Amino acid sequence: MRILIKNIKQLVQTEEHPKLKISGKEMNQLPCINDAWLAIEDDKIAGFGKMEDWEGIADWTNLTIIDATDKLVLPCYCDSHTHIVYAGTRESEFVDRINGLTYEEIFSRGGGILNSAKKLHEATEEELIESALKRLNEVMMLGTGAIEIKSGYGLSTQSELKMLRVIKKLKALSPLTIKATFLGAHAVPSEYKNNKRAYIDLLINEMMPLIAEEKLADYCDVFCEQNYFTKEETIEILLAGKKYGMTPKVHAEQLSNFGGTLAGIKAGAISVDHLEFVGDAEIDALLNSETMPTILPGAQFFLGLPLPPARQMIDAGLAIAIASDYNPGSSPSGNMNFLLSLCCINYKMTPEEAINATTINSSYAMNLSETHGSIAIGKLANVFITKEISSYNFIPYSFGSNLIEQVILNGKIIN
Ligand code: NIG
Ligand code: FE
Repeated sequence: MRILIKNIKQLVQTEEHPKLKISGKEMNQLPCINDAWLAIEDDKIAGFGKMEDWEGIADWTNLTIIDATDKLVLPCYCDSHTHIVYAGTRESEFVDRINGLTYEEIFSRGGGILNSAKKLHEATEEELIESALKRLNEVMMLGTGAIEIKSGYGLSTQSELKMLRVIKKLKALSPLTIKATFLGAHAVPSEYKNNKRAYIDLLINEMMPLIAEEKLADYCDVFCEQNYFTKEETIEILLAGKKYGMTPKVHAEQLSNFGGTLAGIKAGAISVDHLEFVGDAEIDALLNSETMPTILPGAQFFLGLPLPPARQMIDAGLAIAIASDYNPGSSPSGNMNFLLSLCCINYKMTPEEAINATTINSSYAMNLSETHGSIAIGKLANVFITKEISSYNFIPYSFGSNLIEQVILNGKIIN
């Protein structure tokens, strides 16, 4: 199968020499080719350039031609943080928050993550696969091409394994590139309320060996926060996960400055995520690390949390990734286009910075930057074609509109 996209008004995020991530001032640069062509062979990008330099078609075998006059082509978004496998929804808690309860108050009454854990316990694998596939298809049509999915609504050996097996099946069923994360340390289940030590032992001594045996997880994650897991517990759990081949990630500094970022750096985390309450000490430490600071504008917006210091972080020289955190409690949307708008409007990130954060940098946060995140020869052909729009600035500008016309994943036209 071969595809040629021609007359592209603007081919966005092209790379001659692919980078693993883009930091600081460079985030404001977004290489583009105006009036371009893009060639795809099998599942890979085979070539691209300006129309005026195009040599025409020598071989018509199995070739599909797409005319993209007045349209843009971008690499698909990489969404490096989601909880897209879940049962039921939590709009009643949404209304509770409108009426004055906080996210923490809802959790301490047995709601929040514990509410989703009860629902997940009752759901079958088949039900979880069916609902997750619907959500995956929805975000795919919104331009997402690779996605990380966490467990963490199981909170028991049986249910955590159920979630991770569902994610493994989704990898086979969906054309999206999927990475799996073990998040048994998402909350302390009610039965262990007065014995957190025993729950941590269960995570490390019972769950991790079983997960490793079935090769169910690429990453291990911990929610480092007051009433969840301390900095020391986070380090202990992440280092244990590492021994079982799971790369660390952390939910850090979401509700308070609690030490998750430094814990993640110490454990060699690939990313630390959320960061509303990140401070100067964390920014300095991140500058001396390979850890990708990842901001989740959907959760910050939906919970009405303070703005993370994204501008300060980029100006200090850091790379930033953006992901959706798609989950039923704090971010019930995986629309990366809308996140571009939130970054530009609320964090004063430029469209270039926001696009780098949702493509190359978020691909780094799931070890995919060698194959995803930009238009480069040899990378996977995961691209989308927009409707007729004036420039990439129009995507964050026209918040709430769906401007994506066609999606190509692994070199196959999806719609
Ligand atoms: O990333 N902060 C912790 N975990 C999720 C929310 C989970 C939930 O409320 O269901 C998050 O925001
Ligand atoms: Fe999360």
